[in-house]
Amino acid sequence: MKPDPQRRDLIATAFLTRFGAPPTVWCRAPGRVDLMGSHTDYNLGAVLTLPIGRDTWIAARPNHSNEVKLHSLNLGTDAAFSLDVSEKPAVPAWIDYVHGVAVALQEEGLPLAGFDGVVHSSVPLSSGLSSSAALECAAATVFEALGDWTIAPVLKARLCQRAENRFVGVNCGILDQFTSCMGQEGCALLLDCRDLSSRAVAIASGISVVICDTKSKRELAGSEYGERRVECETGAGLLGASCLREVTPAAFDARESELPASVAKRCRFIIEEHARVYALATALTTGERPAIGRLTAASFDGACHLYQIAAPPMLSMMAAMLAAPGVIGARQAGAGFGGCMVAFVETGFIDEFAAAVWTHYSAATGTQPEIYPVTAAAGAGLI
Ligand code: GLA
Repeated sequence: MKPDPQRRDLIATAFLTRFGAPPTVWCRAPGRVDLMGSHTDYNLGAVLTLPIGRDTWIAARPNHSNEVKLHSLNLGTDAAFSLDVSEKPAVPAWIDYVHGVAVALQEEGLPLAGFDGVVHSSVPLSSGLSSSAALECAAATVFEALGDWTIAPVLKARLCQRAENRFVGVNCGILDQFTSCMGQEGCALLLDCRDLSSRAVAIASGISVVICDTKSKRELAGSEYGERRVECETGAGLLGASCLREVTPAAFDARESELPASVAKRCRFIIEEHARVYALATALTTGERPAIGRLTAASFDGACHLYQIAAPPMLSMMAAMLAAPGVIGARQAGAGFGGCMVAFVETGFIDEFAAAVWTHYSAATGTQPEIYPVTAAAGAGLI
């Protein structure tokens, strides 16, 4: 990973000012955007995911104590916790993501060292690009570097997910942490959440991935995410399966009418979305534009009418993306309910696309969106 000198200077200066000595270890972990596979991860299905160049950096120095003391450059705040405390504090805070990782690593029997650290993230917060997973995976990498042990990246991802599930209290799947730990420069990943295997998927040249941020914030811990998950588990149970991944489209068609209406809609979306993951992986590799357009449109249609995770700003953004020059296809990203969306765009048209989406979306909503291309970045590691 090539360091960005300006960002490095900013962090190094803040570190020296705050802690009186330079950092000894630098780690980073990327955010992600899912290209296909909304909410398939906790149903143990497939996801096509892209680790992005927007990432979280932590500069650290061991402080020979049992305390982790952090400063966030993004938030302008300090926070700390003790490695001897394994309970979540009563008042939730951003450092809980790091504290949760420490607890999960310690449960695994890994020795941890206290450190001073400065955190800087270029992943926008609460916008569906996994800023929390980037923080967790960067923190795990700092503990690894200072603790004199190494763990396999897949285990690191699972422990970071455990931190978020058990300590932070968000019942997310493995998608975000897996992408942040397992990313490979230049490739999307086709992740199978049942066995945590993955393969690299190269996107045909001439096709770019562009993030379109609606700038409407979403809260993942909100009840909707958990409700969708329960509905999926209910559906799988009524169909006699351990998870929706085990239900084939034919088996679902035959028994759909036995399910409560809203449960049936959620299940149909997941079962169809899982199949679209493999289809999009093929279409992106071969560069079949019509198939990319069709698959992404079907995914968004399901997100609106079956899974019901499309907030009004997402409808405006979808209209803006589909009307812009160079667009090949577009859909939701992350958990939905606002935040970022994703478009596939002819590389030669990125500037025109971005300008047109900006104008169209700001005129329709009165909100200024942010639009930028992303490329696949390496997973969590030392800088
Ligand atoms: C969030 C969760 C992920 C996944 C997505 C939806 O990002 O953290 O585990 O469920 O939503 O696909």
